[in-house]
Amino acid sequence: MEYVTLNNGVEMPILGFGVYQVPPDQTEEAVTAALAAGYRSLDTAAAYQNEDAVGRAVRNSGIARNELFITTKLWIQDNGEATTQRAFDTSLQFLGMDYVDLYLIHQPFGDVYGEWRAMEKIHHDGGARAIGVSNFSSDRLVDLIIHNEVTPAVNQIETNPYYQRAVENQLMSDRGVRHESWAPFAEGKNNLFSDPTLTDIAAAHDKSIAQVVLRWLIQRGVVVIPKSVRPDRMAENMQVFDFELSPQEMAAIADLDTGHSLFFDHRDPEAVARLSGVTME
Ligand SMILES: NC(=O)c1ccc[n+]([C@@H]2O[C@H](COP(=O)([O-])OP(=O)(O)OC[C@H]3O[C@@H](n4cnc5c(N)ncnc54)[C@H](OP(=O)(O)O)[C@@H]3O)[C@@H](O)[C@H]2O)c1
Repeated sequence: MEYVTLNNGVEMPILGFGVYQVPPDQTEEAVTAALAAGYRSLDTAAAYQNEDAVGRAVRNSGIARNELFITTKLWIQDNGEATTQRAFDTSLQFLGMDYVDLYLIHQPFGDVYGEWRAMEKIHHDGGARAIGVSNFSSDRLVDLIIHNEVTPAVNQIETNPYYQRAVENQLMSDRGVRHESWAPFAEGKNNLFSDPTLTDIAAAHDKSIAQVVLRWLIQRGVVVIPKSVRPDRMAENMQVFDFELSPQEMAAIADLDTGHSLFFDHRDPEAVARLSGVTME
């Protein structure tokens, strides 16, 4: 496994396992299989409603806590300074852990400054080894950095061959924020798994399209957290450290960029209203 060093010196695996849309009743089994396949970084969120199942799988694995890198996220309904601390405590309770490695603001809406102040305190108190954000556009990210004490360690944003985020990647690199990809496979949209360019590159290396996509992101220094409920794919998605894409292949993939989200734009007012209305019990 390769690691990246976050801006506060914490080491994070460049490849982890995401559990979005893994049904809560299947998450323990999926995470157990992922840990057996060798994943040591797990990405969950309060909004995924499967933190408890992640925690059970971790405990039952017998793997030492300090060998794992656990990320969870704060949902919008808990925005605000006091609420953030309570929401964090609830996440720790669900996970059955006394700290997380990375705590992220899930969405850039609501009282993110209150959230960030609370997260800075959580970080100072040892509850989160690193803190960061998700779905922040560059203007919001820079604003947060300039007006607060701690610079986010990570910004987790949609990044895949059809939405590559090269400008954001440069900005984050300049500001010391690690770029993390969500939906590296675009959840299969745009027929990614039969894309002709990716098919040719995969054939040249005797690899799968999934492996080429993860390798392309890793060669850009982007942290990846692919999701699968299938053990064969979990194993496949880890076999990305034994080959290298050439500059020509990297350039051919760069040409696939459309510059647009395949899901929705977080700056679209309708998306802001819709996501802000999503609540959990
Ligand atoms: N911060 C955010 O707002 C946000 C948003 C979305 C996601 N995320 C995080 O990012 C993680 C990854 O993103 P994602 O789950 O949305 O999408 P993704 O990883 O791009 O795609 C997952 C899909 O690809 C399939 N798949 C996985 N490996 C494959 C392989 N080797 N060959 C063929 N198909 C394969 C999976 O199917 P099977 O499961 O059937 O194998 C699943 O349908 C999430 O789990 C979550 O942790 C964060």
